[in-house]
Amino acid sequence: MGKKKIAVLTGGGDAPGLNAVIYSLVRACHSMMDCELIGYKFGYRGMYTNDFRTLDLNSTSGILHKGGSMLYNSNKDNLFNYTVEENGKKVKKDVSDIAIQNMKNEGVDVLVVLGGDGTLTSARDFARKGINVIGVPKTIDNDLPATETTFGFDTAVNIVADNLGRLHTTAESHHRVIVVEIMGRSAGWICLHAGIAGSADVILIPEIPYTIQGIVDKINQRDAAGRPFTIVAVTEGAVEKEGSAVIGKVVEDSPDAIRFGGVADQIAHKLEPLVRHEVRACVLGHIQRGGDTSPADRVLSARYGTKAAELIRDRLFGNMVCLKDGHMDAISLEDVLGRGEMGETSKGGAKTVDPNGELVNVARSLGITFAD
Ligand code: F6P
Repeated sequence: MGKKKIAVLTGGGDAPGLNAVIYSLVRACHSMMDCELIGYKFGYRGMYTNDFRTLDLNSTSGILHKGGSMLYNSNKDNLFNYTVEENGKKVKKDVSDIAIQNMKNEGVDVLVVLGGDGTLTSARDFARKGINVIGVPKTIDNDLPATETTFGFDTAVNIVADNLGRLHTTAESHHRVIVVEIMGRSAGWICLHAGIAGSADVILIPEIPYTIQGIVDKINQRDAAGRPFTIVAVTEGAVEKEGSAVIGKVVEDSPDAIRFGGVADQIAHKLEPLVRHEVRACVLGHIQRGGDTSPADRVLSARYGTKAAELIRDRLFGNMVCLKDGHMDAISLEDVLGRGEMGETSKGGAKTVDPNGELVNVARSLGITFAD
């Protein structure tokens, strides 16, 4: 068999570990087969504009530990519903065939797609159009049901836990309450793990609606015990009982149209008149995805990258790499995303925290409250 040409892209938001997957994929592919690799820039957009760079041992050297993606990210470039300008007007069009033609012209045999739900839905749809696709799941939120752990999650948990520690010292000095807003959309994984590791006093996750009174009770309890400061860790998508999630913005043109934001501020405002402390909000934001990838995520990413190379070698296309029972495995993209219409994700929903699960009980037994 001749030399294989493999294209890679990173779609959706960035997650620490993308570079580590690219690094390991390039090396594993070279060790397993005669091949060359290219990387499309800005996710699917690069496939449409034919904008790519060579990925070889040199160009991928020194990226293993770095967050972000050397191929850049975009969460707006769905080629099956792409915004183009025609006669001075913006219109939506399916431009997937143009991208496929570009791939053919370049002699690309295999497309490896690193991304979340939206990116992988397009991957499934390109597979349906006859492209040899391998998917690799990515999100710091760890909310994809088809794999046990996604890379990026451990890094985010480390960053959040570290920051909760930092906030303790300043909160203690001022006798303040600090409400810390944590990423995760409608899944409380980062908040729960980091909240336990970073000794939060209150953990608020979307899976367990909270009451303001529950938070006040904890603050008062701590005051009475001689600990006049409190750290409240809240997932951006958390909901008050009989309330709804706080939406920062609705973004056009994005698969994640809802941008969460503002819950910490809202809680701080509600709390302050009810307690004898100053209450401050702190939004960790994109700090949670920035900087270096944790060693555990580097290892996990190397496993994802190596397994992707094995699937290419064995021509097991149309699959996504996943972690199952602690081992790397493969699952059909159709099974991950459902067999619905093109562009439609008909499967599942997010993997969320079990409100009665072990980790919630562990947190409770440590004296952490969910204010429920
Ligand atoms: O899904 C990952 C994530 O980091 C969420 O936790 C967060 O809500 C979202 O992405 C932020 O996306 P963006 O970078 O587009 O603001």
